[in-house]
Amino acid sequence: MEQTLSIIKPDAVERNLVENIKNIFIKNNLNIKESKKIHISKEEASEFYKVHQSKSFYNDLCAYLSSGPIVVMILEGDNAIAANRKLMGATNPKDAEENTIRKLYGISIDKNSVHGSDSIDNAKKEIEFFFKD
Ligand code: CDP
Ligand code: MG
Repeated sequence: MEQTLSIIKPDAVERNLVENIKNIFIKNNLNIKESKKIHISKEEASEFYKVHQSKSFYNDLCAYLSSGPIVVMILEGDNAIAANRKLMGATNPKDAEENTIRKLYGISIDKNSVHGSDSIDNAKKEIEFFFKD
């Protein structure tokens, strides 16, 4: 069993897509072990996304993730990290495969509805970041 961190980003929470997205995880054998709706500060978003601090989009990305409520979840299942990345689809919704979350719901490369950890190491760090207690 592997765990990964998933975030439903502000654009999807705002459009009431939380249940639709959770159902995609459940139907695809990813158990939602923990889930909470939170609104983080720009400082917290900057800490969370610090791997991207050298990127041109970093400031906008952090402003965006802190712009409204998000839902953070621990997903658990076989190969949960890769399985979640596959369900999410490509970063840019325009390039995402049919029936992926980003193809179905993403608006643009920045408002792409979901985040998912990309490695075992980052999954551990990201879960710790939001669920340390
Ligand atoms: O989220 P993912 O792992 O697919 O992509 P990333 O390369 O780790 O980038 C993190 C997030 O930055 C993306 O999900 C986008 O929301 C945002 N991003 C952006 O706004 N503009 C880009 N050119 C690339 C990424
Ligand atoms: Mg990433």
